[in-house]
Amino acid sequence: VVVVLDFGSQYTHLITRRIRGLHISSFCLPAGTPLDKIQALKPSVIILSGGPHSVHLENSPTLPEEFFSYVQEQGITVLGICYGLHLIVKLLGGEVKQAEHQEYGRMQISAVEGSRLYGDAGSINNQTVWMSHGDEAVKLPPGFKVVATSTQGNIAAIENVDSRIYALQYHPEVTHSEKGTETLRHFFLNVCGMKADWQMQNVLEEEIKKVTATVGPDDHVICALSGGVDSTVAATLVHRAIGDRLHCVFVDNGLCRYKERERVMATFVKDLHLPVTCVDATEQFLSKLKGVVDPERKRKIIGAEFIAVFDEFSHRLEREIGKMPAFLVQGTLYPDVIESCPPPGSGKSHSHTIKSHHNVGGLPENMKLKLVEPLKWLFKDEVREMGALLDVPVSFLKRHPFPGPGLAVRILGDVTQDGALDTIRLVDEIFVNSIREAGLYDKIWQAFAVYLPVKTVGVQGDKRTHSHAVALRAITSEDGMTADWFHFDGKFLAEVSSKICNSVRGINRVVYDITSKPPSTVEWE
Ligand code: XMP
Repeated sequence: VVVVLDFGSQYTHLITRRIRGLHISSFCLPAGTPLDKIQALKPSVIILSGGPHSVHLENSPTLPEEFFSYVQEQGITVLGICYGLHLIVKLLGGEVKQAEHQEYGRMQISAVEGSRLYGDAGSINNQTVWMSHGDEAVKLPPGFKVVATSTQGNIAAIENVDSRIYALQYHPEVTHSEKGTETLRHFFLNVCGMKADWQMQNVLEEEIKKVTATVGPDDHVICALSGGVDSTVAATLVHRAIGDRLHCVFVDNGLCRYKERERVMATFVKDLHLPVTCVDATEQFLSKLKGVVDPERKRKIIGAEFIAVFDEFSHRLEREIGKMPAFLVQGTLYPDVIESCPPPGSGKSHSHTIKSHHNVGGLPENMKLKLVEPLKWLFKDEVREMGALLDVPVSFLKRHPFPGPGLAVRILGDVTQDGALDTIRLVDEIFVNSIREAGLYDKIWQAFAVYLPVKTVGVQGDKRTHSHAVALRAITSEDGMTADWFHFDGKFLAEVSSKICNSVRGINRVVYDITSKPPSTVEWE
C-alpha cells in the first residue's frame, strides 16, 4: 500500500489516482494523522504531498517528530513532492529558502547519471515537468545528493538511497509532466520493488465479503436509489452480497427528467434484478413546493420530504418483514470522505455554504441505521469500472450527474408555475438527445435546460407571441467544483434552438449560457 499524506495540495487526490492507475493500492490520509493510524495500513511507501504552505511559516503543517525513525524501523520508502521535498530537507538538517526565481509552469529537467530515482530508465532522464513552487532547497541534509536539475540550474530531484528517501521538486502526477506516470511507474516498480497487482475485480470481491461480514444473517438493509451511478452501483454490490434482504426504493418526487422513472426502473428491474419499490410522491412534493421561490428553501423542503417518504417506506417494510431494517446503503465516494477531514492548515473548509447540497446523509437519527458504504474508497471513474464488473449497462454508467433536488433548481421561481415542469422536461430531452446524436455526450460533463420565469416577445407563424425563454447549459469539468462552458459550434446550437422553438409549445426564445464556474455555479439555483 502507498499512503499519500495530504499537505493540502490541489493535486493530492490525483497522486492517489495515478498510483491506483498503475494497479498499486493507495490511500490518502490528512497530514497530522498519528503514526499508529498510518501503520494500520501497513504502507511500504509514504508520499508527502505538495501544499500551499511555506515551511518557514509558523504553524505550517509538518510531520510527527518520530516520523523518520518510524520509517527507518519499518523499512518504508518515502517520496516527497514539492512541499514534501521542503519538509524532508528542513526536518533532516538541510536548508530551504524562498526562491530567487520562483518557478511556475513547464520546465525542462535532466537527471545526473547513475541515480537510483531515474536509474537505467533512460527515457525519463530528460523530461518536461510541471513546477509550481516559491521555496527551494539550498543545502541538502547529510546523505542526500541532487539527482536532477532544471535548465535554470535549480534542484529538481534529490535522493538518499541508504535511507530510502527520495523527493521531487516538480509534480509528476499532473498531465503537464509528460513523463510523470512513467517516472512514478519506475519509482514504484523498480526503485521500491512493488507489484502492480491491485485489480478492481479483487476490490469488488473484497467489498462483497466485507458487506456479508458486516450485515448479520437476519439483518435487512435499505437503500434509496436516486437513478445516479453511485447509488446504483452500491446497491448492486450489496445485492450480490446479501440478495433480497436488500430493499431499495426509488422516489419519484415529480421533479425528474423526461420519462426518468420508467427508464431507471427498467434498468433496476430488468438489467440489474434489484428488489426495488417505486414510490410516486409527486403530489406530496409539489404541494409542499407550491409558491416557494427561494432556492435554499426548495432544497430544504425537498430534503425533509424525502426523509418523510423514506421513513414511511421503512415502516411499511417493518410491517412486511416483522422487523426494522438495520442498515442503510449509501453511495459515498472517496473524495467525500477525504474532504470531510481536511488536513490542518490546508485552508479547506466547509463552513461557507454556497448551496446546501442535500443527499441522503441527513436521515433522522431515531432510525438508528448503521451505514454500509461499499464505495467509500473509490473515485468516480473507479466506481464506473466496478459498475461494469457488476454488469451495470455502460450507457447508465456514463450518465451525466443530476442534482438531488432535480428540476426544482432548474425552474427559476415557483416549480409549480403553469406547465413549467413538462416544458423543461421536453426542452431538456431535445437538447440532450441532440448532444447524443452529435456524439458529444461523453465529452460533456453535464448538460441541461433551465426554465426562465420571463416572457419575451417573438414572432411565430406570422403571429406575435409572448412566451417563455429557456436557457441551455453544457459544461466540461473534472469534479463539478470548477467548470468551463462547452464550446458547441454555431450550427449545432442553431439546430437545437429551432428544434426547441418548433416543437415545444410556449417557448419562443433559447439562450446558451457561456459562463464558467467560478464565477457562476453549474446550476442556476
Ligand atoms: P453547483 O451548482 O453547486 O453544482 O455548481 C455542482 C454540482 O452539484 C450538483 N448539485 C447538486 N447535487 N444536490 C445534489 O445532489 C443539490 O442540491 C445540488 N446542487 C447542485 C450540480 O448538478 C453539479 O453537478
